[in-house]
Amino acid sequence: MKYLSGVGLAAIVVLFTCSITKRQTDKTLQNSAPFPIGVAANVRLLLHNAAYRRVVLTEFNSITSENALKWTTVHPDYNRFDFSAGDSLVKFALDNHKRVHGHNLVWIVHNPSWLNYFKGDSAAWENLLKTHIQTVVSHYKGKITGWDVVNEAFLRNGNLAMSGGEGNGKNNANCIWPKLVGRDYVARCFIYAHQADPAALLFYNDYGQEVSPAKVSAIINMVTDFKRRSIPINGLGLQMHLTLATPKSGITYALKKLAGTGLLIHISELDISTNQNNQPNFLYSDDVQQKQADLFAFVVQQYKLLVPEKQQYGITLWDLGDGDSWIRGTYKRMDWPLLFDEKYDRKPVYNSFQKALQLK
Ligand code: XIL
Repeated sequence: MKYLSGVGLAAIVVLFTCSITKRQTDKTLQNSAPFPIGVAANVRLLLHNAAYRRVVLTEFNSITSENALKWTTVHPDYNRFDFSAGDSLVKFALDNHKRVHGHNLVWIVHNPSWLNYFKGDSAAWENLLKTHIQTVVSHYKGKITGWDVVNEAFLRNGNLAMSGGEGNGKNNANCIWPKLVGRDYVARCFIYAHQADPAALLFYNDYGQEVSPAKVSAIINMVTDFKRRSIPINGLGLQMHLTLATPKSGITYALKKLAGTGLLIHISELDISTNQNNQPNFLYSDDVQQKQADLFAFVVQQYKLLVPEKQQYGITLWDLGDGDSWIRGTYKRMDWPLLFDEKYDRKPVYNSFQKALQLK
């Protein structure tokens, strides 16, 4: 009797412990969501900051290469590729059973300066573009299963960006691709990527769609045209760099329209800027945090509602902690756009995002 009750007690303790462990595990983002939850990861922090690494491992099941596979990093010279950062990121992700999303193969900004000095006719430029795409995609064939093939090809008014990107505070005159290889370069980038890895999921990725119906139309027209011409495309990325002023109706509109293409839909770079007016003494008050929490929850809720399950590629946060956010770096202002603080502890807004993921 004494023995039995000892066993019974042990069983109760084991069950109790399991349920606590389970409850804690359930609270992470990856275990709350019915689709992958990603983070744009910084390779240096991943390798050298234990707190950063721990949170990436526990909370996320998809990793996007933040900068490791952009031209400037991966193709620093005409005849030299440098895969060291990309390889570290991909190894880390695969060793830990995370999906890897490659960002990005072609963009009109963030290109290495040697490209400015490259001389050649349109065939030489075309060859450069094709070689870049196919070298990078082949290097990660079977490892990187999804790619942002082209990033930000359209302007807010829906026109193809020809003379410089307008996004993310940049106005870059170095808008080489459409000028040098022609307006149909986007389609050829998809063809080249598909030739290098026919199994990879190929995405077109762009910003500001929630505030630019004209850009949404341009993207949908592009998809219709690609389907007609049998150009391979599998998905669309909405960056969703939101602010507290982003109209909810715009988020709904963009998600609904893009989901209507039947392609995979990736919220690919989510963050919510709070100090969008760049006030030097801005206070990240409870009221601001509440508004931000509501908007985070709204995005999740709309994604679940408007994107059919089989099209849900996932939601990716752009950076992990507020201290690493690209917004602080690019716009040179204090801001608190993410779910984790400077020490990688969960912020109150984390809870609303996580709860929204869990809701049926
Ligand atoms: C940003 C990175 O996060 C920064 O570290 C870098 O300095 C600039 O680029 N849209 C994109 C991303 O598609 O590639 C950008 O990433 C953020 C905006």
